[in-house]
Amino acid sequence: MTTSDTKIIYKAKAFAPSNIAIVKYWGKKGLQEPVNPSISFTLSKSVTNTRIAYSPNNSDLSIEFLFEGQPKDAFIPKLNALSHRLINYLPFLKKGTLKIESSNTFPHSSGIASSASSMASIAKAFYDIQVQIEPDTIKETEQEFISEMARLGSGSACRSAMPGWVLWGETPLISKASNHYGVSINESVHPVFNDLQDTILVIRKGVKSVSSSVGHQLMDNHPYREGRIKQANNHTTQLLEALKNGDFVTFAKVCEEEALSLHGLMMSSSPAYTLMAPESLRAIKRIIKFREHHHIPLTFTLDAGPNIHLIYPESQSKIVLPFIEEHLRVLCDNKEVIFDKISLQ
Ligand code: PMV
Repeated sequence: MTTSDTKIIYKAKAFAPSNIAIVKYWGKKGLQEPVNPSISFTLSKSVTNTRIAYSPNNSDLSIEFLFEGQPKDAFIPKLNALSHRLINYLPFLKKGTLKIESSNTFPHSSGIASSASSMASIAKAFYDIQVQIEPDTIKETEQEFISEMARLGSGSACRSAMPGWVLWGETPLISKASNHYGVSINESVHPVFNDLQDTILVIRKGVKSVSSSVGHQLMDNHPYREGRIKQANNHTTQLLEALKNGDFVTFAKVCEEEALSLHGLMMSSSPAYTLMAPESLRAIKRIIKFREHHHIPLTFTLDAGPNIHLIYPESQSKIVLPFIEEHLRVLCDNKEVIFDKISLQ
Protein backbone atom coordinates (compact mmCIF):
# COMPACT_ATOMS: atom_id res chain seq x y z
CA MET A 1 0.00 0.00 0.00
CA THR A 2 1.32 3.45 -0.87
CA THR A 3 -0.02 6.87 -0.04
CA SER A 4 0.34 10.03 -2.08
CA ASP A 5 -1.34 13.07 -0.51
CA THR A 6 -4.51 11.57 0.97
CA LYS A 7 -5.05 9.05 -1.85
CA ILE A 8 -4.58 5.39 -0.93
CA ILE A 9 -3.54 3.02 -3.68
CA TYR A 10 -3.45 -0.74 -3.27
CA LYS A 11 -1.31 -2.54 -5.80
CA ALA A 12 -1.10 -6.20 -6.81
CA LYS A 13 0.77 -8.22 -9.43
CA ALA A 14 -0.13 -11.75 -10.53
CA PHE A 15 0.38 -14.18 -13.37
CA ALA A 16 -1.48 -17.26 -14.56
CA PRO A 17 -0.80 -19.70 -17.39
CA SER A 18 -3.31 -20.94 -19.97
CA ASN A 19 -4.46 -24.57 -19.96
CA ILE A 20 -5.42 -27.20 -22.50
CA ALA A 21 -8.42 -29.44 -21.83
CA ILE A 22 -8.24 -33.15 -22.65
CA VAL A 23 -11.87 -33.77 -21.56
CA LYS A 24 -13.68 -30.64 -22.74
CA TYR A 25 -16.13 -28.41 -20.92
CA TRP A 26 -18.88 -27.77 -23.47
CA GLY A 27 -22.23 -26.47 -22.28
CA LYS A 28 -23.08 -24.63 -19.08
CA LYS A 29 -25.87 -24.28 -16.54
CA GLY A 30 -26.71 -21.71 -13.84
CA LEU A 31 -23.99 -19.18 -13.28
CA GLN A 32 -21.00 -20.54 -15.20
CA GLU A 33 -21.35 -24.11 -13.96
CA PRO A 34 -20.39 -26.89 -16.35
CA VAL A 35 -22.83 -29.55 -17.60
CA ASN A 36 -20.01 -32.10 -17.48
CA PRO A 37 -16.65 -32.60 -15.76
CA SER A 38 -13.50 -31.56 -17.64
CA ILE A 39 -9.79 -32.31 -17.16
CA SER A 40 -6.88 -30.20 -18.36
CA PHE A 41 -3.23 -29.54 -17.79
CA THR A 42 -1.94 -26.08 -17.13
CA LEU A 43 0.80 -24.82 -19.46
CA SER A 44 4.09 -23.30 -18.41
CA LYS A 45 5.15 -20.69 -20.99
CA SER A 46 1.84 -19.23 -22.20
CA VAL A 47 1.14 -16.84 -19.37
CA THR A 48 -0.84 -13.63 -18.71
CA ASN A 49 0.83 -11.10 -16.40
CA THR A 50 -1.51 -8.66 -14.67
CA ARG A 51 -0.93 -5.56 -12.55
CA ILE A 52 -3.75 -3.89 -10.69
CA ALA A 53 -3.93 -0.52 -8.93
CA TYR A 54 -7.02 0.13 -6.82
CA SER A 55 -7.99 3.44 -5.20
CA PRO A 56 -10.96 3.37 -2.83
CA ASN A 57 -13.52 6.20 -3.08
CA ASN A 58 -17.26 6.64 -2.70
CA SER A 59 -18.20 6.41 -6.37
CA ASP A 60 -19.43 3.25 -8.11
CA LEU A 61 -16.56 1.13 -9.39
CA SER A 62 -14.89 2.41 -12.54
CA ILE A 63 -12.45 0.26 -14.49
CA GLU A 64 -9.66 1.17 -16.85
CA PHE A 65 -8.08 -1.70 -18.79
CA LEU A 66 -4.83 -1.69 -20.73
CA PHE A 67 -3.71 -4.68 -22.78
CA GLU A 68 -0.05 -4.68 -23.78
CA GLY A 69 0.13 -0.99 -22.95
CA GLN A 70 -2.92 0.06 -25.03
CA PRO A 71 -6.43 0.83 -23.73
CA LYS A 72 -8.76 -2.03 -24.66
CA ASP A 73 -12.30 -0.87 -24.00
CA ALA A 74 -13.82 -3.95 -25.65
CA PHE A 75 -12.82 -5.93 -22.53
CA ILE A 76 -14.49 -3.52 -20.06
CA PRO A 77 -18.02 -5.07 -20.23
CA LYS A 78 -16.50 -8.49 -19.33
CA LEU A 79 -14.57 -6.93 -16.43
CA ASN A 80 -17.67 -5.09 -15.22
CA ALA A 81 -19.66 -8.33 -15.31
CA LEU A 82 -16.88 -10.14 -13.42
CA SER A 83 -16.56 -7.41 -10.76
CA HIS A 84 -20.31 -7.41 -10.27
CA ARG A 85 -20.35 -11.20 -9.80
CA LEU A 86 -17.48 -10.96 -7.31
CA ILE A 87 -18.87 -8.23 -5.03
CA ASN A 88 -20.09 -10.80 -2.48
CA TYR A 89 -16.62 -12.35 -2.34
CA LEU A 90 -14.58 -9.15 -2.62
CA PRO A 91 -16.52 -6.19 -1.16
CA PHE A 92 -13.85 -3.70 -2.30
CA LEU A 93 -15.22 -4.11 -5.84
CA LYS A 94 -18.35 -2.09 -4.93
CA LYS A 95 -16.69 1.29 -5.12
CA GLY A 96 -13.47 2.93 -6.23
CA THR A 97 -11.21 3.05 -9.26
CA LEU A 98 -9.44 0.06 -10.75
CA LYS A 99 -6.64 0.18 -13.26
CA ILE A 100 -5.90 -3.24 -14.73
CA GLU A 101 -2.89 -3.80 -17.01
CA SER A 102 -2.37 -7.18 -18.65
CA SER A 103 0.05 -8.64 -21.16
CA ASN A 104 0.50 -12.11 -22.61
CA THR A 105 3.71 -14.02 -23.26
CA PHE A 106 2.04 -15.66 -26.28
CA PRO A 107 0.71 -14.22 -29.54
CA HIS A 108 -2.86 -13.01 -29.80
CA SER A 109 -5.46 -15.38 -31.37
CA SER A 110 -2.97 -18.20 -31.73
CA GLY A 111 -5.10 -21.05 -30.40
CA ILE A 112 -3.99 -20.60 -26.79
CA ALA A 113 -6.92 -19.77 -24.52
CA SER A 114 -6.15 -16.21 -23.41
CA SER A 115 -9.41 -15.78 -21.50
CA ALA A 116 -8.35 -18.60 -19.13
CA SER A 117 -4.95 -17.12 -18.27
CA SER A 118 -6.25 -13.57 -18.21
CA MET A 119 -9.24 -14.23 -15.91
CA ALA A 120 -7.15 -16.42 -13.59
CA SER A 121 -4.44 -13.75 -13.29
CA ILE A 122 -7.04 -11.05 -12.59
CA ALA A 123 -8.72 -13.25 -9.95
CA LYS A 124 -5.32 -13.76 -8.24
CA ALA A 125 -4.59 -10.03 -8.23
CA PHE A 126 -8.10 -9.17 -6.96
CA TYR A 127 -7.63 -11.67 -4.15
CA ASP A 128 -4.31 -10.07 -3.21
CA ILE A 129 -5.96 -6.64 -2.97
CA GLN A 130 -8.85 -7.95 -0.85
CA VAL A 131 -6.33 -9.57 1.53
CA GLN A 132 -4.40 -6.26 1.80
CA ILE A 133 -7.62 -4.39 2.66
CA GLU A 134 -9.24 -6.94 4.96
CA PRO A 135 -7.23 -10.12 5.61
CA ASP A 136 -9.94 -11.78 7.69
CA THR A 137 -12.80 -11.66 5.18
CA ILE A 138 -11.71 -14.71 3.20
CA LYS A 139 -12.45 -18.09 4.73
CA GLU A 140 -12.00 -20.64 1.91
CA THR A 141 -8.66 -22.13 0.99
CA GLU A 142 -6.80 -19.72 -1.25
CA GLN A 143 -6.40 -21.80 -4.43
CA GLU A 144 -10.02 -22.94 -4.54
CA PHE A 145 -11.25 -19.46 -3.78
CA ILE A 146 -9.19 -17.96 -6.62
CA SER A 147 -10.30 -20.77 -8.94
CA GLU A 148 -13.95 -20.08 -8.13
CA MET A 149 -13.56 -16.37 -8.84
CA ALA A 150 -11.72 -17.08 -12.11
CA ARG A 151 -14.59 -19.38 -13.15
CA LEU A 152 -17.01 -16.48 -12.86
CA GLY A 153 -14.93 -14.63 -15.50
CA SER A 154 -14.50 -17.56 -17.90
CA GLY A 155 -15.36 -21.17 -17.03
CA SER A 156 -12.14 -22.84 -18.12
CA ALA A 157 -10.12 -20.15 -16.27
CA CYS A 158 -10.83 -21.99 -13.00
CA ARG A 159 -8.44 -24.71 -14.19
CA SER A 160 -5.66 -22.13 -14.69
CA ALA A 161 -5.56 -21.22 -11.00
CA MET A 162 -3.32 -24.20 -10.20
CA PRO A 163 -0.45 -26.04 -11.89
CA GLY A 164 -0.39 -29.40 -13.61
CA TRP A 165 -3.46 -31.65 -13.88
CA VAL A 166 -6.80 -30.14 -12.84
CA LEU A 167 -10.35 -31.49 -12.74
CA TRP A 168 -13.36 -29.18 -12.79
CA GLY A 169 -16.93 -30.40 -12.38
CA GLU A 170 -18.72 -32.89 -10.19
CA THR A 171 -18.03 -36.57 -10.70
CA PRO A 172 -18.70 -39.44 -8.27
CA LEU A 173 -15.12 -40.60 -8.91
CA ILE A 174 -13.46 -37.76 -6.99
CA SER A 175 -15.13 -36.73 -3.74
CA LYS A 176 -13.59 -33.24 -3.61
CA ALA A 177 -14.64 -32.44 -7.23
CA SER A 178 -16.83 -29.36 -7.58
CA ASN A 179 -18.77 -27.43 -10.22
CA HIS A 180 -17.53 -24.24 -8.53
CA TYR A 181 -13.76 -24.60 -8.76
CA GLY A 182 -10.98 -26.75 -10.15
CA VAL A 183 -9.17 -29.32 -7.98
CA SER A 184 -5.63 -30.57 -8.43
CA ILE A 185 -5.36 -34.26 -9.36
CA ASN A 186 -1.57 -34.29 -9.66
CA GLU A 187 -1.20 -36.81 -6.87
CA SER A 188 -3.09 -39.43 -8.95
CA VAL A 189 -1.09 -38.98 -12.17
CA HIS A 190 1.62 -41.39 -13.35
CA PRO A 191 5.04 -39.78 -14.03
CA VAL A 192 4.62 -40.62 -17.76
CA PHE A 193 2.26 -37.64 -17.94
CA ASN A 194 4.34 -35.20 -15.92
CA ASP A 195 6.49 -33.85 -18.75
CA LEU A 196 3.96 -33.61 -21.58
CA GLN A 197 4.81 -31.24 -24.39
CA ASP A 198 2.07 -29.14 -26.00
CA THR A 199 3.22 -27.94 -29.40
CA ILE A 200 0.63 -25.68 -30.99
CA LEU A 201 0.32 -25.68 -34.77
CA VAL A 202 -1.11 -22.25 -35.52
CA ILE A 203 -3.20 -23.28 -38.53
CA ARG A 204 -5.16 -20.01 -38.66
CA LYS A 205 -4.52 -16.86 -36.67
CA GLY A 206 -7.37 -14.49 -36.01
CA VAL A 207 -10.64 -14.16 -34.18
CA LYS A 208 -13.01 -17.15 -34.38
CA SER A 209 -16.21 -16.77 -36.41
CA VAL A 210 -18.29 -18.22 -33.53
CA SER A 211 -17.23 -17.54 -29.93
CA SER A 212 -17.09 -20.21 -27.23
CA SER A 213 -19.90 -18.42 -25.34
CA VAL A 214 -22.19 -18.94 -28.34
CA GLY A 215 -20.96 -22.54 -28.65
CA HIS A 216 -21.85 -23.23 -24.99
CA GLN A 217 -25.33 -21.73 -25.53
CA LEU A 218 -25.94 -23.91 -28.57
CA MET A 219 -25.55 -26.96 -26.30
CA ASP A 220 -28.72 -25.94 -24.38
CA ASN A 221 -31.05 -27.39 -27.05
CA HIS A 222 -28.55 -29.55 -28.86
CA PRO A 223 -30.03 -32.80 -30.22
CA TYR A 224 -27.02 -34.74 -28.81
CA ARG A 225 -26.90 -32.95 -25.45
CA GLU A 226 -27.65 -35.96 -23.24
CA GLY A 227 -25.34 -38.21 -25.24
CA ARG A 228 -22.56 -35.66 -24.96
CA ILE A 229 -22.91 -35.40 -21.18
CA LYS A 230 -22.76 -39.20 -20.93
CA GLN A 231 -19.73 -39.34 -23.22
CA ALA A 232 -17.84 -36.67 -21.23
CA ASN A 233 -18.50 -38.57 -17.98
CA ASN A 234 -17.31 -41.85 -19.55
CA HIS A 235 -14.22 -40.08 -20.90
CA THR A 236 -13.55 -38.63 -17.44
CA THR A 237 -13.60 -42.16 -15.96
CA GLN A 238 -11.32 -43.49 -18.72
CA LEU A 239 -8.91 -40.57 -18.53
CA LEU A 240 -8.55 -40.68 -14.73
CA GLU A 241 -7.76 -44.40 -15.00
CA ALA A 242 -5.28 -43.87 -17.86
CA LEU A 243 -3.55 -41.01 -16.02
CA LYS A 244 -3.20 -43.18 -12.93
CA ASN A 245 -1.84 -46.19 -14.82
CA GLY A 246 0.46 -44.37 -17.24
CA ASP A 247 -1.64 -45.75 -20.12
CA PHE A 248 -0.80 -43.49 -23.07
CA VAL A 249 -2.88 -45.49 -25.59
CA THR A 250 -6.13 -44.85 -23.68
CA PHE A 251 -5.04 -41.28 -22.97
CA ALA A 252 -4.60 -40.66 -26.73
CA LYS A 253 -7.91 -42.33 -27.56
CA VAL A 254 -9.83 -40.09 -25.10
CA CYS A 255 -7.88 -37.01 -26.17
CA GLU A 256 -8.72 -37.44 -29.86
CA GLU A 257 -12.33 -38.55 -29.33
CA GLU A 258 -12.91 -35.43 -27.22
CA ALA A 259 -11.33 -33.11 -29.79
CA LEU A 260 -13.27 -34.55 -32.71
CA SER A 261 -16.54 -34.77 -30.71
CA LEU A 262 -16.23 -31.09 -29.79
CA HIS A 263 -16.04 -30.17 -33.46
CA GLY A 264 -18.75 -32.73 -34.31
CA LEU A 265 -21.03 -30.98 -31.80
CA MET A 266 -20.39 -27.66 -33.54
CA MET A 267 -21.22 -29.21 -36.92
CA SER A 268 -24.47 -30.68 -35.53
CA SER A 269 -25.63 -27.54 -33.67
CA SER A 270 -28.51 -25.42 -34.91
CA PRO A 271 -27.29 -23.28 -36.56
CA ALA A 272 -24.42 -25.55 -37.55
CA TYR A 273 -20.93 -24.17 -37.93
CA THR A 274 -17.35 -25.26 -38.53
CA LEU A 275 -14.18 -23.97 -36.92
CA MET A 276 -11.72 -26.47 -38.44
CA ALA A 277 -9.75 -25.54 -41.53
CA PRO A 278 -8.68 -27.89 -44.35
CA GLU A 279 -5.13 -27.74 -42.95
CA SER A 280 -6.39 -28.93 -39.54
CA LEU A 281 -7.62 -32.16 -41.15
CA ARG A 282 -4.46 -32.51 -43.21
CA ALA A 283 -2.36 -32.16 -40.04
CA ILE A 284 -4.51 -34.72 -38.18
CA LYS A 285 -4.08 -37.27 -40.98
CA ARG A 286 -0.32 -36.72 -41.08
CA ILE A 287 -0.04 -37.08 -37.28
CA ILE A 288 -2.00 -40.36 -37.25
CA LYS A 289 0.02 -41.79 -40.17
CA PHE A 290 3.30 -40.79 -38.50
CA ARG A 291 2.25 -42.39 -35.21
CA GLU A 292 1.17 -45.61 -36.93
CA HIS A 293 4.50 -45.80 -38.72
CA HIS A 294 6.71 -45.06 -35.69
CA HIS A 295 4.58 -46.56 -32.88
CA ILE A 296 5.28 -43.66 -30.53
CA PRO A 297 3.20 -41.97 -27.82
CA LEU A 298 1.91 -38.93 -29.69
CA THR A 299 -1.58 -37.49 -29.78
CA PHE A 300 -3.42 -34.28 -30.56
CA THR A 301 -6.32 -32.16 -29.44
CA LEU A 302 -8.13 -29.04 -30.64
CA ASP A 303 -9.86 -26.32 -28.68
CA ALA A 304 -12.77 -24.39 -30.13
CA GLY A 305 -10.71 -23.34 -33.17
CA PRO A 306 -8.70 -24.73 -36.09
CA ASN A 307 -5.33 -24.98 -34.33
CA ILE A 308 -3.84 -28.33 -33.38
CA HIS A 309 -2.20 -29.08 -30.04
CA LEU A 310 0.34 -31.88 -30.48
CA ILE A 311 0.85 -33.72 -27.21
CA TYR A 312 3.73 -36.09 -26.44
CA PRO A 313 6.16 -36.94 -23.64
CA GLU A 314 9.41 -35.00 -23.64
CA SER A 315 11.31 -38.22 -24.36
CA GLN A 316 9.75 -38.27 -27.88
CA SER A 317 10.94 -34.77 -28.81
CA LYS A 318 13.90 -36.13 -30.75
CA ILE A 319 11.63 -37.89 -33.20
CA VAL A 320 8.63 -35.51 -33.15
CA LEU A 321 10.49 -32.22 -33.69
CA PRO A 322 11.93 -33.14 -37.12
CA PHE A 323 8.44 -34.37 -38.15
CA ILE A 324 6.96 -31.00 -37.17
CA GLU A 325 9.62 -29.14 -39.13
CA GLU A 326 9.31 -31.31 -42.25
CA HIS A 327 5.58 -32.06 -42.45
CA LEU A 328 3.52 -29.85 -40.15
CA ARG A 329 5.05 -26.37 -40.04
CA VAL A 330 4.19 -25.91 -43.72
CA LEU A 331 0.46 -26.21 -42.87
CA CYS A 332 0.61 -23.34 -40.37
CA ASP A 333 -0.29 -19.69 -40.82
CA ASN A 334 3.01 -17.95 -41.52
CA LYS A 335 4.60 -21.29 -40.52
CA GLU A 336 3.96 -20.41 -36.87
CA VAL A 337 4.42 -23.12 -34.24
CA ILE A 338 4.46 -22.50 -30.46
CA PHE A 339 6.33 -24.85 -28.13
CA ASP A 340 4.78 -25.13 -24.69
CA LYS A 341 4.54 -27.87 -22.07
CA ILE A 342 2.80 -28.85 -18.85
CA SER A 343 3.58 -26.61 -15.87
CA LEU A 344 5.65 -27.94 -13.02
CA GLN A 345 3.56 -28.99 -10.06
O1 PMV B 1 -14.05 -21.16 -20.67
P1 PMV B 1 -14.68 -20.90 -21.98
O2 PMV B 1 -16.05 -20.35 -21.83
O3 PMV B 1 -13.77 -20.08 -22.87
O4 PMV B 1 -14.88 -22.33 -22.74
C1 PMV B 1 -13.81 -23.16 -23.06
C2 PMV B 1 -14.27 -24.31 -23.87
C3 PMV B 1 -13.17 -25.19 -24.46
O5 PMV B 1 -11.96 -24.50 -24.53
C4 PMV B 1 -13.58 -25.61 -25.87
C5 PMV B 1 -13.00 -26.48 -23.67
C6 PMV B 1 -12.31 -26.37 -22.32
O6 PMV B 1 -12.71 -27.15 -21.44
O7 PMV B 1 -11.36 -25.59 -22.15
